[in-house]
Amino acid sequence: MASRTSRDVLGRGLAVLGRAIREQPRIFAVAVAGSVLFGSMVIASAYVVGTVVGDVVVPAIARGSVGVGTLALAATALFGISVLRVAGIVGRRLGAGYMQYRLQAAYRRRVTRRYLELPLAWHHRNATGTLLSNANSDVEAAWYPIAPLPFAVGTLVMLVGAVASLFATDWALALVGLAVFPALFTLNVVYSRRMAPRQARAQRLRAEVSGIAHESFDGALVVKTMGREAQETRRFADRAGELRDALVSVGRLRGVFDPMLETLPSLGTLAVLVVGTFRLRQGAISVAELVSVAFLFTVLAFPVRAIGWVLAELPRSVAGWDRVRRVLDATGEMPYGDTALDPADPRPATLTFTDVCFGYEPAEAHLPGTEVLGEVTFTVPAGKTVALVGPTGAGKSTIASLAVRLVDPRSGTVALDGVDVRRLTAASLAGTAALVAQVPFIFDDTVRANITLDRPGIGDDDVWAALRLAEADGFVAALPEGLDTRVGERGTSLSGGQRQRLTLARALAGRPRLLVLDDATSAVDPRVEAAILAGLRSSAADASAPAASILVVAYRRATIALADEVIYLEQGRVVARGTHTDLLATVPGYADLVTAYEQAEVDRAQERPYDDEVTPPLASGLEIEVDR
Ligand SMILES: Nc1ncnc2c1ncn2[C@@H]1O[C@H](COP(=O)(O)OP(=O)(O)OP(=O)(O)O)[C@@H](O)[C@H]1O
Ligand SMILES: [Mg+2]
Repeated sequence: MASRTSRDVLGRGLAVLGRAIREQPRIFAVAVAGSVLFGSMVIASAYVVGTVVGDVVVPAIARGSVGVGTLALAATALFGISVLRVAGIVGRRLGAGYMQYRLQAAYRRRVTRRYLELPLAWHHRNATGTLLSNANSDVEAAWYPIAPLPFAVGTLVMLVGAVASLFATDWALALVGLAVFPALFTLNVVYSRRMAPRQARAQRLRAEVSGIAHESFDGALVVKTMGREAQETRRFADRAGELRDALVSVGRLRGVFDPMLETLPSLGTLAVLVVGTFRLRQGAISVAELVSVAFLFTVLAFPVRAIGWVLAELPRSVAGWDRVRRVLDATGEMPYGDTALDPADPRPATLTFTDVCFGYEPAEAHLPGTEVLGEVTFTVPAGKTVALVGPTGAGKSTIASLAVRLVDPRSGTVALDGVDVRRLTAASLAGTAALVAQVPFIFDDTVRANITLDRPGIGDDDVWAALRLAEADGFVAALPEGLDTRVGERGTSLSGGQRQRLTLARALAGRPRLLVLDDATSAVDPRVEAAILAGLRSSAADASAPAASILVVAYRRATIALADEVIYLEQGRVVARGTHTDLLATVPGYADLVTAYEQAEVDRAQERPYDDEVTPPLASGLEIEVDR
């Protein structure tokens, strides 16, 4: 079984190398040409050295004087060979380096682009640490053997040349070559087979270690507040220890095989000397020929190891490649359609859900997926505000994701202005609908960059207008460098409510025609929240400002009361719909829920004031999650 998988690894590894050659054929050709030049010069140097010894040194010893002309000629030949050899090395190294790093860059780009194409469901199933290592160490591992590959290919050519020149010299010496070279090759293959499982294990552990590290940094707040530092450190240390053991076992194997690979050609030299002396006595070969062949075996020892380097790295390459391919071959991306909505249309959009059913994919394929939404039907008419209200887990965020096509329904349709969102182009979708998510995300960049996101046509005036609508102009103006203040991870930290308002301004700056607010102002003072919504609604009536229909996930009475219609959701189904006043009077569950939220709101306001006026000294993104 083990040998079968390792044979497999050899075949698959060669296939990966083949792919690399097909992708970079020209650079590869340059590198191999350099390597073949080097190899030919190695053989040539052996023959020149042999000739110098046989035709210059030996006669000189016999005569007691050196032929200056012959010596000069030999010196010139050796110098010329050295120059060509260096040229070969330069060509090979440059070519191999270019090839390796170009492939790495190309595949890093492909992997990260794929991440953005793959649906959220795929991301939910894959840990961030794994994604990081796929784009980093797995891509590196996949193309690791590219560095010695041209050297190895050139060496193979050289070995064929060496055997041919051995046959041209003497059949007995050729037999020594025929015994040694295949033995070297076999030893290399055995080496790579032994290496396969060790390298695969090390590569898997590299990903796991980076995954754990990522998790503990990400959850630093939880780890610290729960006093789990020791356990977390141990968890990391355990896995790091396993990785160390795996790498030590790789090194041990290398330690055993490397000397053997080096010794074989030396044994070859010894055999050549024994057989050669015998043949010399018989008069079958000359001194020059014997010296050439012996020298050839000595200089071959080093390049032959290049084959070993490639074979030894193949298992790691295959392991890395498999992990990269898992990303590249992953399916489920949601291709965009080709219907475009008029980008200049200033009217608010109409959103319609018709019999939408949805369920998240189960974590493992064999588990049944549960239904999250069942036959949800509602409309957000152009310019109107619709509030989604329901207990936690009812499916509000899921509806918000469907509305901006982060996910597609299992059945039923979601349509913007009557067009199924699956038929819309990427630009139409992004230009029409904007989601402000439940958990705000701020990039480690300036306030301006966080709002414009490099989208064209958003000037500072638009940024300030968006900030005003989001009730964020006040605190941004008070920041030390205004729009140029760096916020996010390493910049000034913002409070939860400030982050929420920045992400809202980001959505507004794109002048969406449909705004989906998923609990987007929960950390903001209720009065400010109501003011924001009121501002958005009245701006819809004002022709100069962005006009948007609004779907808002809300809890607070003041906010809900502003909506034209309320959709009340329970366990993924629309239970009731109507105005806030109607629902309060007719749906007991609704009244209970709204009252409960209101009570919680009062309690919270007494415990801890909202952060709209004062920025707490130690605000961080995690604070919001703790709030929830
Ligand atoms: N990525 C996911 N994978 C599997 N199930 C999920 C996923 N996200 C949500 N769910 C499930 O779908 C259901 C609806 O979740 P959703 O986030 O839409 O609720 P919600 O109404 O927004 O709740 P909340 O008020 O707490 O934000 C829940 O039962 C939840 O467990
Ligand atoms: Mg939610």
